[in-house]
Amino acid sequence: MWAMQYHRYGAADVIQREEAAAPTLATDEVLVRTTSSGVSAIDLMYRAGQLRIHGFGFPKQPGFDALGQVVESRNPAIRPGTWVWTVLGLEPRRTRGTAVELLTLDPSRVGVFPDDFVPDPTVGSLPLGALTALKSLRDIARLQRGERVLIVGAGGAVGTAAVQLATILGARADAVCGAKGLELCAALGAEQVVDHADADVQAIQHGHAYDVVLVAAGRGTDWLDAVRPGGRMVLTRLDTWVAGLPAAWRGRVRTLGVAAGHDSGDLTWLAQQVAAGGLRPTVGVTYPMTDLARAHADYGHGGTAGARLIVHAT
Ligand SMILES: NC(=O)c1ccc[n+]([C@@H]2O[C@H](COP(=O)([O-])OP(=O)(O)OC[C@H]3O[C@@H](n4cnc5c(N)ncnc54)[C@H](OP(=O)(O)O)[C@@H]3O)[C@@H](O)[C@H]2O)c1
Repeated sequence: MWAMQYHRYGAADVIQREEAAAPTLATDEVLVRTTSSGVSAIDLMYRAGQLRIHGFGFPKQPGFDALGQVVESRNPAIRPGTWVWTVLGLEPRRTRGTAVELLTLDPSRVGVFPDDFVPDPTVGSLPLGALTALKSLRDIARLQRGERVLIVGAGGAVGTAAVQLATILGARADAVCGAKGLELCAALGAEQVVDHADADVQAIQHGHAYDVVLVAAGRGTDWLDAVRPGGRMVLTRLDTWVAGLPAAWRGRVRTLGVAAGHDSGDLTWLAQQVAAGGLRPTVGVTYPMTDLARAHADYGHGGTAGARLIVHAT
């Protein structure tokens, strides 16, 4: 099978397309032919060697999530032909990734789409961002119906999913994003949408108006006074969360970090939201798998309006 791999840590161009042995199925696992996937900060950190919890030795494979179709199953509950998606989560003893032709998955990492639903390849841009947003809002912030939530970094993979999920969970969302994401965030249901470079942001930062603030970009400390007394702030970057703890403690704001994990129940619930039309992919830029290195090199350079999609080679 084909597999994107790298044999040393480094810049994006260490990633190469190579032939690799197809994985073998263990009891209870499914074999998935991948269709598409996203790009995330953790992919870049693994590749650059900034986060060395991606198995021992090389080659290593990039990719943290994927959409695909089951081609073989040793799990009676998941039949061949079923559309599934996955977030691998942390696998500190494995070097694998999702930028491969065939992937074996244990059921704990599989979200299953309804039988009669065939997802468009763009859906592969969603899983990690949507799972992170769901964990942040529902489990960590415990967002309630009718509450007001501010999504900071709303134009990207996590943020665009968070705006949509806030609405699905019955809350009212406002959004802070880059200039290119403004229209998209409004179309997704955000009530007030502000460019993070705009002076208006300061009024929001000091307004104490939100029950929940989800920080998916920038520094949490900039948004502590946006939280109402007794409200909650969730940060998607654990290093930013830790760095801001002293200021949060002084300001008496409850701040929490989130880890997306890989829960199959949550992934299946999210797949159902996609099938029902409530959660839509928001692809800002599409790359063929052969351009994965370019997708890594482009990440984080601004101008984001939606998630990044990698279309897998066939
Ligand atoms: N904890 C977890 O399990 C987990 C999982 C996934 C992701 N994450 C983290 O979540 C964060 C977001 O990931 P992502 O994939 O959604 O990133 P992304 O797609 O690059 O989106 C980031 C968005 O934030 C905007 N932005 C940049 N600086 C901003 C600022 N100061 N204020 C407001 N918006 C700003 C960007 O706009 P411009 O492009 O216009 O600047 C972009 O729209 C990353 O830090 C990632 O590491 C954590």
